[in-house]
Amino acid sequence: MTALARRLEATLASRSDRQMLRALDPNPPPSSTLVDFSSNDYLSLSRSPILRKKLLDELNKPSTPLFGPPSSRLLDGNSPLHASLEHRLASFFCAPSALLFNSGFDANSGLWSCLPAPDDWIVFDELVHASIHDGMRASRVPKERRRAFKHNDVKALERLLREIVEQDEGVRDGTKSVWVGIETLYSMDGDLVPLKEVAEVVQRVLVAGNGHLVVDEAHSTGLYGPNGRGLVCALGLANRVTVRVHTFGKAMAASGAAVLASPLIRNYLINYARPLIYSTTMTHLSALAVHKSLELLEEGGSEEPAANVHSLASLLISRLSAVLPPTSSVSLPQELVALASSSSISPHPLTSPIIPLLTPTPRPLSAFLRQKGFLVRPITYPTVPKGQERVRVCLHAGNAREEVEGLVRAVEEWVKREERERGEGRSAVAPSPRSPPEALQAKL
Ligand SMILES: Cc1ncc(COP(=O)(O)O)c(C=O)c1O
Repeated sequence: MTALARRLEATLASRSDRQMLRALDPNPPPSSTLVDFSSNDYLSLSRSPILRKKLLDELNKPSTPLFGPPSSRLLDGNSPLHASLEHRLASFFCAPSALLFNSGFDANSGLWSCLPAPDDWIVFDELVHASIHDGMRASRVPKERRRAFKHNDVKALERLLREIVEQDEGVRDGTKSVWVGIETLYSMDGDLVPLKEVAEVVQRVLVAGNGHLVVDEAHSTGLYGPNGRGLVCALGLANRVTVRVHTFGKAMAASGAAVLASPLIRNYLINYARPLIYSTTMTHLSALAVHKSLELLEEGGSEEPAANVHSLASLLISRLSAVLPPTSSVSLPQELVALASSSSISPHPLTSPIIPLLTPTPRPLSAFLRQKGFLVRPITYPTVPKGQERVRVCLHAGNAREEVEGLVRAVEEWVKREERERGEGRSAVAPSPRSPPEALQAKL
């Protein structure tokens, strides 16, 4: 065995010993017979006959380009289809301009690595996505000026910003910028950012106007705001946010992402964002899929499915709150329960499609729910901190109310079995052998 093979094997074995090994199923089933409570297909558009017809009609036109362009956007990849998609996105999302990236990961890592100057500060919610972390690490801002604040804690953000203002004259006089990185809907906790309060704090503390909010709308696109324009538009805060990222791989059932920002920032990214410059642009097929998904949103096609998702979320939370005893080994985050009981939908619903079931035994619980016909995923350390393990339930417009009721009954049965068996001095289900694809969930 070579030294390289020995090293790689040893590292993977250590990961496996710590129950952290990631793996892909070599034979993924063509389509699951389980009820999908797992994917990010929130509006169920991946199975929408309307969207399918829109795309097929377009593909059947002889003039429609399908393949390629096999080139970077900056060489031969700047097709009319890509350029028109950007105009359409900017107009839909009420932004001055839009720039396409091949994925949300590319968009975040590209913009965060080049926009902040070496003297600037970066401040970010402790739970932001891995792609934002990668971008920040690749930026020219040193570690000591990249500071996290407690998740969704506006007071903690304010304290941190005041500390920075106090400490750095360049921030006080406005010659240096402070970049603030947040998401609108956090994918593991299913909670929304208090965006208005965050925007107010940034404006109030950074009086020179040098606080720049960068907002990732990956999980809120399609679900909030008029026609699914996202949380920033729902709250009318587009002019208080410097950069927005919308991704197409979740509710829009396509792939890729758009960065929404001023033409100046767009121009800067075209010159310095490496994932854009040094990568083949998205294919015509991908751009067409986004065009059609966007068309559906423009026509109001997301309104009913989004309302359905929010209604299912309220149903799930209220039913689970009713059946889970306070001492249960499965619980809901209290903030979610409080928010779901508010029926307010203005300026946006307070529910989200992501409902975490907190439990110290996420793997046996998810295995049990699978046996009952429900596809859910266990989320364990290091994706979430130790002690915050959970089973993540994702609701979709296409889920029937009976399926949600069925899930509630299954969770209730699990809790009762556990209680009974705890009373008898043994655990309900011996931890099942981990199936490789579940061994570790990347942040979704
Ligand atoms: C908050 C967030 N931002 C960005 C991404 C990356 O987007 P994409 O899947 O398009 O690469 C994800 C997840 O996939 C995400 O959850």
